[in-house]
Amino acid sequence: MNKGKTVKDYIRTIVDFPHEGILFRDVTTLFADPRGFRMAIDQMLHPYAGEEIDKVIGLEARGFILGGAIAHQLTLGFVPIRKKGKLPGATLSQSYTLEYGEAVVEIHDDAIQPGEKVLLVDDLLATGGTAEAGIKLIERLGGEIVGCAFIVDLPELGGRKLLEEMGMDVHVLCE
Ligand code: PRP
Ligand code: ADE
Repeated sequence: MNKGKTVKDYIRTIVDFPHEGILFRDVTTLFADPRGFRMAIDQMLHPYAGEEIDKVIGLEARGFILGGAIAHQLTLGFVPIRKKGKLPGATLSQSYTLEYGEAVVEIHDDAIQPGEKVLLVDDLLATGGTAEAGIKLIERLGGEIVGCAFIVDLPELGGRKLLEEMGMDVHVLCE
């Protein structure tokens, strides 16, 4: 029986993935459960009820699953921020470091119009490097970030502090 379960209860931990020493917080078990998935979407949206938002932006890859559902719920468009080389049109690029590597993310350069209000979503905040790169891309296009919503924050890695120091409204469902 699922009654009484919280979002956190649906997330499993995989030890030593993708590298030794990493405790990987796996949200696929949350996404796979109908109650869990709906609870996560509803809770991610809750603080933004009544806010003026023009677009939902999702970070690859699990941010696409959440962002698509949130955009549908709000009847808004969805814009992906993808790893380098995946978007077909003209892009802006931003490099970043994360808990276990380095990468570049990109956005289509016509995906956000100056002054548009956006909600940035992803599954998890660790060092904050991925979200920071996403924020920089959005701001380079003139977008205004209403909030950054995540399911999980790993507080010991400092991502939330980093984003708050950038002036972001950060909303997380669990630590
Ligand atoms: C994970 C997670 C976030 C990011 C958080 O994605 O989904 O996007 O790491 O880490 P950070 O706060 O230290 O930047 P990952 O890089 O594993 O990519 P994937 O979703 O494409 O597998
Ligand atoms: N991304 C970065 N660190 C992670 C972790 N520990 N679990 C899941 N995704 C992550």
